Amino acid sequence: MQKPENIVWEKDYLSRPDFEDLLGQKGCVLWFTGLSGSGKSTLAKATQKALHQLGRYAIVLDGDNIRHGLNKNLTFSEEDRNENIRRVSEVCKLLVNHGAIVITAFISPFRQDRINAKAVIGQESFKEVFVSTPLAVCIERDVKGLYAKAQRGEIKNFTGISQPYEEPLMPALSINTSEEHLEASVGRIVGLVSGS
Ligand code: PPS
Repeated sequence: MQKPENIVWEKDYLSRPDFEDLLGQKGCVLWFTGLSGSGKSTLAKATQKALHQLGRYAIVLDGDNIRHGLNKNLTFSEEDRNENIRRVSEVCKLLVNHGAIVITAFISPFRQDRINAKAVIGQESFKEVFVSTPLAVCIERDVKGLYAKAQRGEIKNFTGISQPYEEPLMPALSINTSEEHLEASVGRIVGLVSGS
């Protein structure tokens, strides 16, 4: 990545602790990763609601939605997925530095992209949640009909079918949504957030 030339960093008057004091919480990122249909979005929304009920300010960044706007120019090639996660990591960093709890729901299939995200966001603030629902279950659910299309060859580079998914090696949590009730999973995830 090129270093910007002729650009000087503009320092803020306020810093992360000022925002964290204002909000009464510590900023962090709950980074969900897992196959399409594994339950990332459902878990992300339910976690946001649970945190909201606890008086916490949490923001959801969801792959499908971010690809409608900020990242609408990106495909599902390996290179574009790298760029998708790079941009999202930078957004997370901005939000966390303003005291937010950020919940991301991206397939983020490549281990190196997630390692990079952790480095950008900061080790302490990054909690990786592996939504480990098996591929067979995701194919069976096929909520959006995408697996059927991918299996017919109508979608290329489909994660788990025609492109790899690299499992996290040491996630903070693993959640198989076909084996655990949503409330129990959300309870475990909320437990990762400091002070909750
Ligand atoms: S990634 O890998 O992190 O860049 O993907 P992400 O931004 O999370 O987008 C995943 C959603 O896009 C839909 N979709 C696909 N997924 C995987 N592979 C291919 N080729 C593809 N094409 C479209 C799909 O609805 C994903 O949403 P989820 O919520 O994961 O099912």
